[in-house]
Amino acid sequence: MNHEKKQFLVIGGDSLIGNRLANMLSTLGYKVFTTTRRCKHDAEFFYDLENGNCNNLFNEPFACAFLCVGITDMAACHADPEHSYLLNVTNTVNLADRLRSVSTPFVFLSSNTVFDGAAEYPDEYSGYCFNTEYGRQKAAAEQALLAFGQGTSIVRLSKVLARDSGIVAKFLQCFKARQTCDAFNDLFIAPVSLNYVCQSLIKIAQSGIGGIFHLSGQNEISYADLAFCLADSIPGARACVRSISSTASNSLIIFKPSHPALGMTRTINTLGILPESVGCVLTQLNSISI
Ligand SMILES: NC(=O)c1ccc[n+]([C@@H]2O[C@H](COP(=O)([O-])OP(=O)(O)OC[C@H]3O[C@@H](n4cnc5c(N)ncnc54)[C@H](OP(=O)(O)O)[C@@H]3O)[C@@H](O)[C@H]2O)c1
Repeated sequence: MNHEKKQFLVIGGDSLIGNRLANMLSTLGYKVFTTTRRCKHDAEFFYDLENGNCNNLFNEPFACAFLCVGITDMAACHADPEHSYLLNVTNTVNLADRLRSVSTPFVFLSSNTVFDGAAEYPDEYSGYCFNTEYGRQKAAAEQALLAFGQGTSIVRLSKVLARDSGIVAKFLQCFKARQTCDAFNDLFIAPVSLNYVCQSLIKIAQSGIGGIFHLSGQNEISYADLAFCLADSIPGARACVRSISSTASNSLIIFKPSHPALGMTRTINTLGILPESVGCVLTQLNSISI
């Protein structure tokens, strides 16, 4: 990374990760620009992945751009593979090409779904082995972006948890209202905290090292384990958790890995970033009282 250029670009400033990342970069004193499809202020660019036109978007180089947009709902990709491929692969690669044309290195956020979750701890050197449409699209985007060579970093993530969004927010709301919440005891994640992910993404960008990196939880736990762990810090909440099987429920589960955790051989060796333990993730999630 060119340290003269202290301006970062977060493509997808409204996403869970992009939003926290932009805030963290600002707190570190960097100038941050974001893209959105709901323009609010001057430091934002309007960008809609849908039409894919990015030719006039960025004329100046940034120190690094983070690609955090896309159709992230696996069921939506499964239901409409053609349209989601257009956004998640074709238009994403075009956008990255535009960044490359103005000499901006970029970090593409990918996922553990490029593997099928059958093998334990696949690392950065393991071959693709997806079993979902979403995973196929992530793998296709990765391959096209890696072909750009220098300036491309791919970061594959396991499940990112934050207190105020997604499943954690849902569990906590139920606990607060003393309502029963169903938690799958046969669906596994290797959770990482939003802070760990954003701090590591910044470290990867600052290193200027390209190629594939993994950011993963060290431990594999079920959603039921997660719910019980969260409940343990709230008196009476444990009784709200109903541990059930996902196969017995009516839910459409697209990705059901036996082993969601990623190996981090290259990430540890090149940058010293270690997998995050479930204890650390829970400490982050419990750090604000309900
Ligand atoms: N969160 C995880 O657990 C996790 C795990 C593995 C990998 N990842 C990867 O990390 C990246 C970010 O994930 P996230 O969870 O932070 O994402 P997210 O919260 O689901 O946000 C997705 C973003 O994409 C934007 N978007 C969707 N369609 C768009 C379009 N046509 N034009 C412009 N923007 C569009 C959305 O914009 P609106 O807000 O306007 O709808 C939203 O801001 C994704 O690539 C994801 O695959 C995430």
